[in-house]
Amino acid sequence: MSRRVLITGGAGFIGSHTCLVLLEQGHELVVLDNFDNSSPEALRRVQELAGSTQLTLVEGDVRDASAVDKAFGSGGAVDGVIHFAGLKAVGESVGNPLLYWDVNVNGSRVLAAAMERHGCRTLVFSSTSTAYGEPETFPLREDMPTAPVHPYAQTKVAVEQMLAALCRSGPWRVASLRYFNPVGAHPSGQIGEDPMGIPNNLFPFITQVAAGRREQLRIFGQDYPTPDGTGIRDYLHVMDLAEAHGKALEHLLQQPTPYSLTLNIGTGRGLSVLEVVQGFEAATGLTIPYEVVERRPGDVPRLEACPQTAQIVLGWSARRTLEEMCRDGWAWQQANPSGYRGPT
Ligand code: NAD
Ligand code: UD1
Repeated sequence: MSRRVLITGGAGFIGSHTCLVLLEQGHELVVLDNFDNSSPEALRRVQELAGSTQLTLVEGDVRDASAVDKAFGSGGAVDGVIHFAGLKAVGESVGNPLLYWDVNVNGSRVLAAAMERHGCRTLVFSSTSTAYGEPETFPLREDMPTAPVHPYAQTKVAVEQMLAALCRSGPWRVASLRYFNPVGAHPSGQIGEDPMGIPNNLFPFITQVAAGRREQLRIFGQDYPTPDGTGIRDYLHVMDLAEAHGKALEHLLQQPTPYSLTLNIGTGRGLSVLEVVQGFEAATGLTIPYEVVERRPGDVPRLEACPQTAQIVLGWSARRTLEEMCRDGWAWQQANPSGYRGPT
């Protein structure tokens, strides 16, 4: 069944892949994005790949009620909202917590208020595995306590709580998806992650080293209590994550109200930094030079999902391998050495 879906932050890394999946499934999309961390070119390519022009763009800020109203008013009634728009850099959130509370929390509040005004109370929200803080028991289940240790994660947990309260107050249907570490790109190499400046995250850093844009990878610490001493994360292919959104939205739309769901979205298989480096080398035939440096402040030794609830409730599980994550991420980097900004 074709749905009309409002996607905030739809031009971003996860949003663009989700737009592609939803367009391919025949849905009609309205994207609200202020291009703070993305480019309209991503949406052009998404439509080209999908062979669909069923996407209306409203350029604007999710904190601006009139922009959100404009998105709701740009066509027929909206069946559901997927809310990606937000800021995600942990270090920046420590330096500027008010910005994070404004964009992530106030932005979600403005969006939810607009949803009430327009009679649409079905929402999929981008939450994070960092909600668990520095856990010691694995794998992580959704009923384990949240203990966010930096403003970025604190804002995400605050929004989860605001949405849970909405579900107690009226006929809302909400799914908070706690993503683990999405990496890779669409296999076409046409859309992918396009970080500004020096990448913070492991995966784009590796692909930039592979491309010769950076001299070597710095591995942040080899003295963690893990088998090879490097940090363990649950990396998943961004296309698997994108597909989870389609399933979550469809699931919500079939539930009676109110309905509230929190799901881990990961593979359940943690990989160390060294395993990712080796996996990338095996998938591409390239060598990634690295040096081990000090731990990065704020990093935890290990994050690993129990993805069983998503399997049971949505019938979703991550299907793609580390090899595909590496191959597709590398194809995107090679075809777009300067991301969406430069010549391709
Ligand atoms: P991204 O930065 O690529 O995408 C975010 C999008 O939101 C961008 O297109 C940006 O321009 C837009 N945006 C930012 N502020 C906005 C505002 N005020 N109004 C309108 N649009 C705005 O990030 P992503 O990796 O695609 O992440 C999407 C969501 O998932 C974020 O909320 C992020 O916190 C969350 N998340 C990401 C990860 C990850 O590893 N990438 C992990 C857990 C959670
Ligand atoms: C980070 C954020 C997280 C956010 C996610 C997506 C922190 C503490 N966490 O997750 O909140 O949701 O990005 O934006 O910033 N590593 C290196 N060298 C590098 C980069 C990373 O060794 O150049 C290591 C890290 O120490 C970690 C692993 O690689 O062990 C993964 O790091 P990263 O990709 O940044 O993801 P997270 O830290 O899990």
